Amino acid sequence: MSKITIAIDGFSSTGKSTIAKQLAKHLGYIYVDTGAMYRAVTLYAMQNTFVSPDAFYKEALISSLNDIKITFQFNEQLGFAEVFLNGKNVEKAIRTLEVSSYVSKVAAVTEVRQKLVEQQQEMGKNKGVVMDGRDIGTVVFPNAELKLFMTASAEKRAERRFKELSDKGDAVTYEAVLKNVEERDYLDTTRKDSPLVKAIDAIEIDNSHFSLEEQFDKVLKLSEDKI
Ligand code: C5P
Repeated sequence: MSKITIAIDGFSSTGKSTIAKQLAKHLGYIYVDTGAMYRAVTLYAMQNTFVSPDAFYKEALISSLNDIKITFQFNEQLGFAEVFLNGKNVEKAIRTLEVSSYVSKVAAVTEVRQKLVEQQQEMGKNKGVVMDGRDIGTVVFPNAELKLFMTASAEKRAERRFKELSDKGDAVTYEAVLKNVEERDYLDTTRKDSPLVKAIDAIEIDNSHFSLEEQFDKVLKLSEDKI
């Protein structure tokens, strides 16, 4: 059986990572969560006060890029790879609403994208990879054998993210989560460098009305047709 590259792009909280993880597990492929990489860079920027509610010291972040090392380590118990920032596990720390509120600004910086895209291409160079993000089918792996583009209404996505954050004990409101989802949609689709856009050859999956099982069956069938 030949190994392929599966690129899953789409808006935030469309269930991309859940589907990507399941798919990678089922096929014995590597799963790469590229959003986690942008989030880890954002966490670094926050820790070094390069971002705050009213300022973004972009040049300072760019100058520090060589000091940022992002790695993944497979966690047997969880069944997926967790993200590390300079040797420290930041899997939980990168999922807060505060990180979400800055990440799209950080991800719009060309130098940040260049660094991360290079690392992503290296991680997927031998195929057998399911990678999710915003620009995987358009920029990172434009020749991916299978490209999926996931969408769902902003309300549905905010509901999902709100539940995830509340279940973890984060004191957030649905309104704040919806606002963040809408702001990120706007910034991600309008930025100059690698905006979120559906690749011409991507298959669109609107999962507003599908259960996880239905989505997975559909995506698995599409993958098997290509392998
Ligand atoms: O996937 P997730 O929602 O965790 O991604 C967080 C943010 O990282 C996105 O809103 C986007 O700004 C950025 N991102 C990106 N390119 C990717 C993956 C994520 O710009 N390939």
